[in-house]
Amino acid sequence: MNLPLLTDTFGRTLSYLRISVTDRCNFRCVYCLPPEGIPLLPGKDILSFEEILRISSLYLKMGGERIRLTGGEPLLRRNIVDLVSGLSRLPGLKDFSLTTNGYYLEDFAGSLKEAGLQRVNISLDSLYPDRLAQLTSCREFKKIWRGIEKALDMGLRTKINVVALNGLKKEEIIAFGWMAKKYPLEVRFIEFMPLCGTGWHPEWVLPLYRVKEVVERHFSLKSLPRRREVAESYEIQDGRGRIGFIASMTEPFCHDCSRLRLTSDGKLRPCLFSNIEVDLKTQMRRGATDETLKGLLSRAVFLKPMGHGIGDVHHSSVDPQALPSIRFVGG
Ligand code: 5AD
Ligand code: SF4
Repeated sequence: MNLPLLTDTFGRTLSYLRISVTDRCNFRCVYCLPPEGIPLLPGKDILSFEEILRISSLYLKMGGERIRLTGGEPLLRRNIVDLVSGLSRLPGLKDFSLTTNGYYLEDFAGSLKEAGLQRVNISLDSLYPDRLAQLTSCREFKKIWRGIEKALDMGLRTKINVVALNGLKKEEIIAFGWMAKKYPLEVRFIEFMPLCGTGWHPEWVLPLYRVKEVVERHFSLKSLPRRREVAESYEIQDGRGRIGFIASMTEPFCHDCSRLRLTSDGKLRPCLFSNIEVDLKTQMRRGATDETLKGLLSRAVFLKPMGHGIGDVHHSSVDPQALPSIRFVGG
């Protein structure tokens, strides 16, 4: 049951918490991190596992249902499997997932599954090793691929995140379609968003309807009910997997957004595109009671804006000056 405690001023229940467990990453995706990286937060500023578990437990008691671990690259956080174990045992958790760049997944998939993780989202922006290297700095396509296979073997429900950037070729879109046909996973194309990790590049934008046109020309798709998913998902005729489209810009889903974000240094952000944040860590370290922390969680819910407000213009014409400057790392 969703308690009204997590219902915002626009009637949306924020039952999905995304927790960043580290700001570090071993990749340098062109849209996320500059080649030289970013200054990392000092270790003492990063939430401990105890702190993450405490916040998560309170969140679930307030009616939260879903948790996703993100980063940076979450598998770089030391002893991440212990955190997964602890979280998976919390009462009330209905959906538990992790987003990863896939690099360490072949080593971790088994223990993550055993520790209670249900799902993984793996970022894979290209099926061409050279293009993948250009986009992410990772030269080891095969290693990521082994990670994907391992996740499937271990029975983790798997989604593949493909940020659609200009330059994504028709042949490649079709290859992703075949991937979704052959493997029991969901390939999700994501529209490039002005999250400003490395600056806004309108020329990189590829509106998803163009990707969808290509997919529809080559595969026979059957629409699936959307529920509160951000993706519009389809089954592929005679296929094992699915294809989804997350058109955050051209078709914003803010009216139905269920997310709250917890940064690795303990700040709650009610929206990715706004600078509003509620500092849980400082209060927690000053000895805040559970009731006070719940109050702060409610405050973040209350502060959630209606939408990102940039979906009503064609996003390639978004004025970067008008966008908030967010230090966004992956996740
Ligand atoms: N636009 C769209 N998707 C992004 N991601 C990171 N930055 C952006 C952006 N600016 C994706 C990553 C990963 C997921 C967590 O978010 O590629 O798959
Ligand atoms: Fe790392 Fe993810 Fe950012 Fe790529 S998008 S640099 S994998 S945090």
